[in-house]
Amino acid sequence: MSSELLQKAREYEKKESQQVPEAQRPAYHVTAPVGWINDPNGFSRYRNWYHLFYQYHPYSTHWGPMHWGHVRTRDFIKWEQLPAAIAPDEEYDKDGCFSGSALALPDGRQLLMYTSVVRKEDSDGIVRDYQQQSVAFGDGTDYEKVEKNPVISTGMIPQKNDKHDFRDPKVFIEGDTVFSLVGNRSEDGSGELLLFESKDCIDWKLKTVVDRCNNEYGRMWECPDYFELEGKQILIVSPQEMKADGGEFHPGNGTVLFVGERNSDYSFKRESVQTVDFGTDFYAPQTLESEDGRRIMIAWMQNWDTCNYANHTRKIYGQMTLPRELFIKNGRVCQRPVREIENYYGNIYNYKDAVIENETKLDGIKGRVLDMTVKLDLTKNESISCFRIDICKNEKYTTYFLLDLNKKTLKFSREKSGVYQDIITTREIEIQPENGMITLRLLLDKYSAELFVNDGEKTLSSVVYTELEADEITFWADKKAFADIEMKEIKI
Ligand code: FRU
Repeated sequence: MSSELLQKAREYEKKESQQVPEAQRPAYHVTAPVGWINDPNGFSRYRNWYHLFYQYHPYSTHWGPMHWGHVRTRDFIKWEQLPAAIAPDEEYDKDGCFSGSALALPDGRQLLMYTSVVRKEDSDGIVRDYQQQSVAFGDGTDYEKVEKNPVISTGMIPQKNDKHDFRDPKVFIEGDTVFSLVGNRSEDGSGELLLFESKDCIDWKLKTVVDRCNNEYGRMWECPDYFELEGKQILIVSPQEMKADGGEFHPGNGTVLFVGERNSDYSFKRESVQTVDFGTDFYAPQTLESEDGRRIMIAWMQNWDTCNYANHTRKIYGQMTLPRELFIKNGRVCQRPVREIENYYGNIYNYKDAVIENETKLDGIKGRVLDMTVKLDLTKNESISCFRIDICKNEKYTTYFLLDLNKKTLKFSREKSGVYQDIITTREIEIQPENGMITLRLLLDKYSAELFVNDGEKTLSSVVYTELEADEITFWADKKAFADIEMKEIKI
């Protein structure tokens, strides 16, 4: 545990985190104590705590040699910072401890499984990653890597599979067997998910191929998750190089969720497919089962294609989404913010049938840390065709959600949020009223906006780095409109 590299990271984060101005930190979203984070790792329950690790480079606001940072929570809202868990301090992981997962073992230990990366120059002169899976055991704070690492080597994957992209193990336990689902590439260069099994987490063998991309949903599949939800089997992957497809998938790094069944050999039978989140910033989600049986998901609220959007003069970069409860409605997996957020409401402002004409401000409705629900009853609004909500607004800036009731679309735009690079600033999604009603629930936390459409049928998560002074919220419709609006301040 007490490697020099880990010790250095622990001391650095302890000291430097105190230098991060409060205004830079979201109120209830996880960030690094200092530096860079990407994927959530090891989101799991252990000894009455929910643990979350993350891809972490404390020394700058850019990706670098990956460590695992660590926080824990009891309610998914208030997080306690813990010292960094692992560092790339062994020969076999010297170029990074990439993503992975964690598990409470029946013998009381906490298992971490991660991808250990070594970069080597091949005979053709090209430097490539060699990715294998390694484990560390711990007590919730300190972790010991084992002698036999890497415990799942590239020697164990099918002959024709790729030896370089082999990563992001998701562990789960059934009976006395521990399983690990790992992303890899088939002979055709696209994603293939390999399931390994073990009795002691040290000796592993390949059990089955769970699913293959066959070049259908992107190329490499990163960060798999595989779990049961309301009697269905769910498979989530984060594909690279996705192409846009209908209204469901956007180009680039995406997130794809399959609903289906698990065959007796643990392979997967797909029934339907959907995106996980339609926003500009959402990637690499992980789930856990809460003590009371809810399936909770958290993701990196960023995307590789938008990383340079950040103001790197800040001391921290990257944040997680708010954890969300998953449930199935009409065959589609939907998401709701964890209910624990309701314990943190401050003042509540409630308007029934608020009249929206031109640009309308409502007393009390403003801010950057809040939970707001806007309900549009279309039977009361037959004459309007457009309705807009502007947030993070002042004379200079705005970020908006624009409903087009004729086209049945919702457009998100952060073009005027102070972005100074030509990155993705807008998204448009299809939207259908539910029983004549459109419900938009929006959670803001300083530099992010997470939208839940019609009780989480669709979600759209995006970072908005507009300066905090821009805290107005306004409503607009092309004709006189009536909306029910409730805003709760969130006080942490
Ligand atoms: C996904 C990912 C993973 C990898 C990690 C490296 O965002 O590319 O596949 O393990 O990030 O930080």
